[in-house]
Formats: sequence, C-alpha cells, structure tokens
Amino acid sequence: MKKWLVAGLGIAVIALGMASCQAYTLTPLPEGATVEAMADRGADVFINRCARCHGFKGQGVVGTRLIGAESHVQHFSNAAELNDYILEWMPKDKPGILTEAECHEVLCFLLVENGVMNHDMVFRADELAAFHLGGETHPH
Ligand code: HEC
Repeated sequence: MKKWLVAGLGIAVIALGMASCQAYTLTPLPEGATVEAMADRGADVFINRCARCHGFKGQGVVGTRLIGAESHVQHFSNAAELNDYILEWMPKDKPGILTEAECHEVLCFLLVENGVMNHDMVFRADELAAFHLGGETHPH
C-alpha cells in the first residue's frame, strides 16, 4: 500500500473517532417532549459525562451514588435545585460544559431511574420544583 494511502486512512480513522466522541451532543428536543424521550438521551449524556465518576449504574465510584436506595439525589429538596446544581457544578472536573438541554436530559434520566418521574409525562422545565426529592436545600 502506498504511504499516502496509509496516512489518508489514518486521518479518516481519527476523524471518525472524533465524530463518535461528539455523537451524543444532539439538537435539543422541542418543548413538550416526553420524559421518556428526554431520559433516553440523558442515558447517553450520563454514560459520556458522568459514569466514569458516578459509575455506569450510578452506583458511585469517586463520585457519590446517584441511583437507587441511598442515592444522594435524595439530598436535594426538589428537581429544580438538582438541575441547577448539575448545571453549575458537574462534571466536577469540567463544570459548565453541559448545555441546558443536556442537563435536563440527564436530570430526566436520573429521576426516571430513581422512580421520581414517570416515562409518559411531558417534560416541563418550569415545573421542576414540584418534584420533591426529600432532602434539605443543598449546601452549594
Ligand atoms: C470527575 C468526576 C465526576 C464527574 C465526571 C461527575 N461528577 Fe458528580 N460528583 C463528583 C464528586 C466527587 C461529587 C461529590 C461532591 C463533590 O465533591 O463536589 C459529585 C457530586 C454530584 C452530585 C451531588 C450529590 C452529592 O453527593 O451531593 C450530583 C447530583 C452529581 N454529582 C451529578 C453529576 C452528573 C449528572 C454528572 C455528569 C453530567 C457528574 N456528576 C459528573 C464527581 C464527578
């Protein structure tokens, strides 16, 4: 094989690799999307941006447990506050990289997994405070 061809293939492979890293950044769903559609995308955000610290099942690794009994999601008083916390402070090593839409998606994923939100509901960003999580106001 000619050298230029090998180099060209190498570049193509790198380009593909970069494209797949970006792949989960999707156009936001329109207002009125179901929680199920949001949570599906949120699972992708979670795997790409959160799982390495919080675990692929949200069980906690260097980050705290976010899914299941004893999940730290219960430390927040409501979903609006949890959303604001994630948007401002997470991922811990790169806070601020999530778009608002990605944050809503990962929030839906976490709240469905924790049995707080129901799949069939329509997602409404302005009604998040109505979802009580049981905690006191978070210290941050
Ligand atoms: C580099 C590691 C890391 C990544 C990546 C990360 N986190 Fe965290 N996260 C932590 C640590 C550590 C804590 C514990 C609080 C602290 O140290 O600030 C935490 C705390 C939290 C909390 C508060 C729970 C508590 O214990 O008070 C939430 C909610 C949270 N993370 C969500 C997320 C979400 C959602 C993502 C992905 C968008 C994410 N984190 C990505 C390390 C990480």
